[in-house]
Amino acid sequence: MSDIPNKTFNDGKTIPAFGLGIWQVPQDETARVVSESINMGYRLIDGAAAYKNEVQLGEGIRAAKVPRDDLFVTSKVWNDGMDYDAVRRAVDESLDRIGLEKLDLMLVHWPFPKQDQYLDAWKALIAARDDGQVTSIGVCNFHSEHLDRIIGETGVTPALNQIEVNPMLQQADLLRINDARNIVTQSWSPLGNARSFDADAIKAVAARTGKSPAQVILRWHLQLGNAVIARSTKTDHLKANMEIFDFELTRDEVDAISTIDKGERTGPDPETFNG
Ligand SMILES: NC(=O)c1ccc[n+]([C@@H]2O[C@H](COP(=O)([O-])OP(=O)(O)OC[C@H]3O[C@@H](n4cnc5c(N)ncnc54)[C@H](OP(=O)(O)O)[C@@H]3O)[C@@H](O)[C@H]2O)c1
Repeated sequence: MSDIPNKTFNDGKTIPAFGLGIWQVPQDETARVVSESINMGYRLIDGAAAYKNEVQLGEGIRAAKVPRDDLFVTSKVWNDGMDYDAVRRAVDESLDRIGLEKLDLMLVHWPFPKQDQYLDAWKALIAARDDGQVTSIGVCNFHSEHLDRIIGETGVTPALNQIEVNPMLQQADLLRINDARNIVTQSWSPLGNARSFDADAIKAVAARTGKSPAQVILRWHLQLGNAVIARSTKTDHLKANMEIFDFELTRDEVDAISTIDKGERTGPDPETFNG
């Protein structure tokens, strides 16, 4: 049994607070990374059509020694089809590629404002959920205007908003926006390209606790109240990244890390990114 705690969605379902992301994991390594992670205790795998490794994600799930029902599998729809019918097809295709009958979570990958089809995409995910293809539905990279538009038009609030959060991009306002709508925030690129591994506030916690900077940062995400997904292809990093439930940052240490924030992204700005 895994000892990773869950967070509860506004739809009553739950998601592991920590999991594996497989963006940029090469196809020929994905099945190994996925099965190895599951066998060491990971239960959440964060995939996406755009990562081009959903077939290998499915192979890894089937190779692991854990029943499907104990796992939480996420996918995302990309901008190569955000109208209603295209998103319905995209859900079918992700299920086919991974080899699953149902996804635990399906997300709109980006709002892609120029395309302006994210409302349509959201309606299609609601239908996919109602048809039993996915358990929960959510979004990524949505700001307050995107959230309020889809909620206002459909009455359905995303279970989760997956956004870039790391010590150099803390997004405190967006965390509050999600929180106010009872949406779970899940941090992507939580390690922020290792930009803050050398920051004094991180190094001080690492020295006090005997943990690595990466472990300190992953723990910090949990203490912000976020769910978090981290990626590695290395066995020692995969294992170390799970070992974040046996220590705590003090309030002062969390406050000290908040001063590292520079508002600097590693990824694109959702207001201008169009795929
Ligand atoms: N929704 C979106 O738009 C979006 C965007 C980006 C990412 N995501 C999701 O978020 C997941 C995580 O983000 P990410 O992949 O960008 O980055 P990340 O998890 O923040 O960082 C991954 C990098 O950190 C290294 N690393 C991992 N553990 C380490 C450790 N313990 N010590 C030192 N280095 C370590 C990895 O290298 P090694 O392999 O050498 O360990 C890799 O280079 C993605 O995989 C994806 O699922 C979503």
